Amino acid sequence: MRRSSDLSPEQADESAWWHDAVFYQVYVRSFADSNGDGVGDLDGIRSRLGYLELLGVDALWLTPFYTSPMADHGYDVADPRDVDPLFGDLAAFDRLVAEAHEHNMKITVDLVPNHSSDRHEWFQAALLAAPGGPERNRYIFRDGRGFDGSQPPNNWTSIFGGPAWTRVADGQWYLHLFAPEQPDLNWDNPEVSADLARTLRFWLDRGVDGFRIDVAHGMAKPHGLPDMDVRAEQASGVLHDNALDPRFDDDGVHEHHRMIRKVIDSYPGRMAVGEIWVQGDDRFARYVRPDELHLGFNFRLVQAGFEAEQVRAAIEHSLAAVAPTGTPPTWTLSNHDVVRHVTRYGGGALGAQRARAMALVQLALPGVVYLYNGEELGLPNVELPDWALQDPTWVRSGHTDRGRDGCRVPLPWEGSAPPFGFSSGQGSWLPQPDEWAGLTAERQLEDPDSMLSLYRQALELRKSTEGMSGTELEWYGAPPGCFAFRRKGGGLICALNTSGAPVPLPPGEVLLSSGPMDGDQLPPDTAVWLV
Ligand code: GLC
Repeated sequence: MRRSSDLSPEQADESAWWHDAVFYQVYVRSFADSNGDGVGDLDGIRSRLGYLELLGVDALWLTPFYTSPMADHGYDVADPRDVDPLFGDLAAFDRLVAEAHEHNMKITVDLVPNHSSDRHEWFQAALLAAPGGPERNRYIFRDGRGFDGSQPPNNWTSIFGGPAWTRVADGQWYLHLFAPEQPDLNWDNPEVSADLARTLRFWLDRGVDGFRIDVAHGMAKPHGLPDMDVRAEQASGVLHDNALDPRFDDDGVHEHHRMIRKVIDSYPGRMAVGEIWVQGDDRFARYVRPDELHLGFNFRLVQAGFEAEQVRAAIEHSLAAVAPTGTPPTWTLSNHDVVRHVTRYGGGALGAQRARAMALVQLALPGVVYLYNGEELGLPNVELPDWALQDPTWVRSGHTDRGRDGCRVPLPWEGSAPPFGFSSGQGSWLPQPDEWAGLTAERQLEDPDSMLSLYRQALELRKSTEGMSGTELEWYGAPPGCFAFRRKGGGLICALNTSGAPVPLPPGEVLLSSGPMDGDQLPPDTAVWLV
């Protein structure tokens, strides 16, 4: 046996715990509420660790729970080294880490390096300081254009709608790629990176196993802040590629990832995954390297429709992007920023059937899977009434874009009426539909045909089946609208039928199917694992 000291850094990563891990994203506000205020919290997560263990996930990713005025539900951080009272306190965090580790689950936390909250003490000091001073230099303040400086310094728009600049009392403008309450930090200022290093060490010392890095393709801005191409603006939204876009993926960002990696490497066994929205596999590959991120979120499966050719292309691109880097691919169907996939695939019974099929596809792939809380219950997106909407996108877009609240509705745990055991109080921060009575975890645990039972079986088999080994895929010939791939190392075959008619199964014994089989035929909207 090789000792880990014989391995190069990349090979050592191959054997690291995250290499084929299944992560579970906990959107903290919406997972479980322990104190009856209708908002999820850290003790709530702790109370449901048994469920997560039963589900069979290896690690959790917690969305931001730091001190925040919640203009973007925690992605506007006022103090990155403390817990917001809404979610608990540092002692609650320590309890959660300790208990998760007892349940053999790793804990990873979100880091938000691109911007802070406007209530961060640095930004408050910047507002009080004179233009040109060191306090302003931690953010991106500029004079405006036009003879009186009343025009923004450039034409950049905010991802949430409207201009990316806000004017302050003395006439200068500050940059915010997201909401005005999220001023962008100036990563050319060494104080900014030193502070992030301090934050990393703070949480590493408290025992976290890794980080998810928000807007990992942000941070660095091009010299001179040139205007953006208006075509990039048309593609705006959290989910956009950015070949034409000077706001993101500036080459200077890699230096910051190397700094982050150096800190993480001083704590063995810890990792980071980046949120990376970039155009092109080669641009993506630049982020995942032995001296930068361990993993990158590749959103190609989120962007693919329920159509075999599109899904196959998404898989091939995701594999090609990491092939030269020696790092594992990551797979994800949903997160807190996108429409839930049951709804993307058509909604209702058909959307759920297709979501079952795609669950088997993503869990048959080599590498790392990120599940989003509630996908294991088959939750659809919720059409919320106007009064309930809270995402800043709704207001910033002039009430034209309903934003991301529909995928953030709190989870239904048990019982027959809202809040379905999510909270001991009367309600939840976003209202749950009455129909979710049929989707509670309690109901689904008892039903062998439920979405939850499918996830449990698939996660169990993913761990225990030898056929799941190896990092490469071999594609079989398949009828139009279908595909079949084989894990080269272990031999497991996964077939998907997105066509309208049954197709013959590839040879092998059925290990698991996403729906009822039709003799030796694979029915439409179904996937199967064979050995
Ligand atoms: C990321 C997060 C999103 C947040 C944004 C600003 O895209 O996933 O939820 O609004 O960054 O921090």
